[in-house]
Amino acid sequence: MNLKNQMIRGIGILLVVWTGIVAAEQDGVDGLGKGEIAISDSTFSCIRDMTKVRGFYVDNLNGNIDATLAVANSATGGKYPEGSVVQLVPGEVMVKHGRGFSPATMDWEFFELDVSDTGSKIIKRGFVNVINRFGNNCFGCHIQAKPEWDLVCETGHGCETIPITAEVIDLIQRTDPRCDDNEDLSTSESFELLKLKIKVSIGTSIGTVKSWL
Ligand code: HEC
Repeated sequence: MNLKNQMIRGIGILLVVWTGIVAAEQDGVDGLGKGEIAISDSTFSCIRDMTKVRGFYVDNLNGNIDATLAVANSATGGKYPEGSVVQLVPGEVMVKHGRGFSPATMDWEFFELDVSDTGSKIIKRGFVNVINRFGNNCFGCHIQAKPEWDLVCETGHGCETIPITAEVIDLIQRTDPRCDDNEDLSTSESFELLKLKIKVSIGTSIGTVKSWL
């Protein structure tokens, strides 16, 4: 082998090694992307096992709940830390990946879940393109929150509002089928929930109501 061929071969080997290193960095040894948090059906359970902040629930998959709570309770907003989980209703979740994992969505991933007494099943997940069961894009609404609220809508953060009262959201949270300590509802509460289910099933609210069942 002459010198030129040897050099070409050497460069080739270096390139292979380098791309291997880059790929390993991006995917991580565990098959996850850089900054990605592992999430599966079993990540999610009874909404009320999370910590309630005003009307919604938070948790942190990295055990960093204090940092998540600090932002959730801050009067001026802030950037939720990696691992943060946010839920308003059992069927929809936002999870914060590591810094830079999905810059377009401030590293939030959106999930739509099917929930039952056997647990949670991820129906859809993704970043800018998750459409809920009523045909609306999660990100499309949540990006309307003013920057200091880090895509968390609540009320008064700048998002288009949703036509469900706080009382009905409370009912939905109290009847999460994944919880084993649900209390019986009063007759009028059961009636409210029934009305909501009928409304959803006949689709009167398609395009406006959130998917909470
Ligand atoms: C029509 C606009 C709209 C769409 C579409 C939408 N959301 Fe929301 N979402 C809201 C609003 C407004 C709130 C706050 C409601 C409240 O607190 O009364 C909210 C609340 C939430 C919360 C609690 C934290 C917060 O931002 O207040 C989570 C988590 C959430 N939505 C996830 C999702 C996911 C996941 C999807 C898609 C599967 C989705 N949302 C689709 C408007 C929307």
